[in-house]
Amino acid sequence: MSVHAHVFKGLEGVYVIDSAICLIDTEKGALYYAGYDVRELVEKSSFEEVAFLLLHQRLPTKSELEEFTSRLRASLNLESKHIETLRKHADNKDTLTMLAMLMVLEGGGKKGGDPGDLEAAINAIAKMGSFFSTIIRIRSGGDYVPPRKDLSFAENILYMMNGGEYRREYVEILDDLLILHAEHGVPASTFASLVTASTLSDLYSSIAAGILTLKGPLHGGASEASYAQALRIGSAERVPQWVESMLAEKKKIMGFGHRVYKIYDPRATVVKELIAKHAATMDSEAKKLYEITQALEDYGQKVLAPRGIYPNIDLWTPILYRMIGVPPDSFTAFFAVSRIAGWAAHILEYWRDNKLIRPLHLYVGEQPRKYLPLELREGS
Ligand SMILES: CC(C)(COP(=O)(O)OP(=O)(O)OC[C@H]1O[C@@H](n2cnc3c(N)ncnc32)[C@H](O)[C@@H]1OP(=O)(O)O)[C@@H](O)C(=O)NCCC(=O)NCCS
Repeated sequence: MSVHAHVFKGLEGVYVIDSAICLIDTEKGALYYAGYDVRELVEKSSFEEVAFLLLHQRLPTKSELEEFTSRLRASLNLESKHIETLRKHADNKDTLTMLAMLMVLEGGGKKGGDPGDLEAAINAIAKMGSFFSTIIRIRSGGDYVPPRKDLSFAENILYMMNGGEYRREYVEILDDLLILHAEHGVPASTFASLVTASTLSDLYSSIAAGILTLKGPLHGGASEASYAQALRIGSAERVPQWVESMLAEKKKIMGFGHRVYKIYDPRATVVKELIAKHAATMDSEAKKLYEITQALEDYGQKVLAPRGIYPNIDLWTPILYRMIGVPPDSFTAFFAVSRIAGWAAHILEYWRDNKLIRPLHLYVGEQPRKYLPLELREGS
């Protein structure tokens, strides 16, 4: 045992990989995918193009994008085996766990370790989208609606989720949210994916590990927790008193704080701009949620920012999720539909130079001792 060993709790401040996929500028508050500012990608790009960018670390040519888009679209189609499984499990309210199970089944024990396995990556990204949309569709009493060849990825998600009908103005919101959530370095879920991938498990199982790790409220589950929190608060007027009582009880305010950002989360800024752009289409639920969230941001920042705790993206996304019709128990699942692009990109990148992830623990238990037979132990 090394006497110099130091445990980095929560791996805080520890670099675990080198990667060309994403840069988080924590000083300026900016996020780049393979060198491109995510703000510019949100403005000018599509989820299809961003998924290609993350997987290849370069933008596609026109013909490459067309080919990638059509492969993605073809993989959105579900077979009867998928639909049967979805129907059988649709009443299970835990959407995220269902997605993990469906991913593992999709892999069906395929071999892992191939850094060039784009086919699996594209299929996994597309299937996550159609599983998500179809789960919501079946739960609302409808049936599977196959994707359309003339629709983009974001359009197909809305189309399949709503059984054909969707509002045109929501396509931009959905596509922008997909881009914004697609990648963020090595948060817990991506790390979990890499740990699994490093054993040369298959891509689908590695992604399933990411999905299940996304679930917790300290990570991807924060948007659902932040929505539930707004409902509990109930009105903008109650915010100051509510925040004070939470802090007095040493409880956390959901949608605040980040391991990496000790400034305002740049993704939250983009989400707020998107809300402002589409404010005219807000219904009364979204408006009320907006008032509470704004009050929470204002008061929360006043008391928490001096400690480097600022609003994060999950404070604001529930408003957009509700606007585009994502049920509150499926916010995190929507996040997974997007982040799968980042997980897949990291897994393939890691397999280029795979090394089993196997950290150490510093033993603090008893030193080797003599085994006493049961009848000789005190109290026997
Ligand atoms: C995301 C998160 C886990 C990152 O935090 P971290 O780097 O692990 O730091 P810790 O959880 O150890 O918190 C450090 C201190 O800040 C406080 N803190 C962190 N986030 C807080 C929050 N949202 N509300 C109130 N206090 C908070 C902690 O209570 C702790 O205080 P202490 O030093 O007095 O014990 C944390 O900010 C959090 O739980 N936020 C709420 C959940 C959330 O929105 N997650 C989505 C992230 S995108």
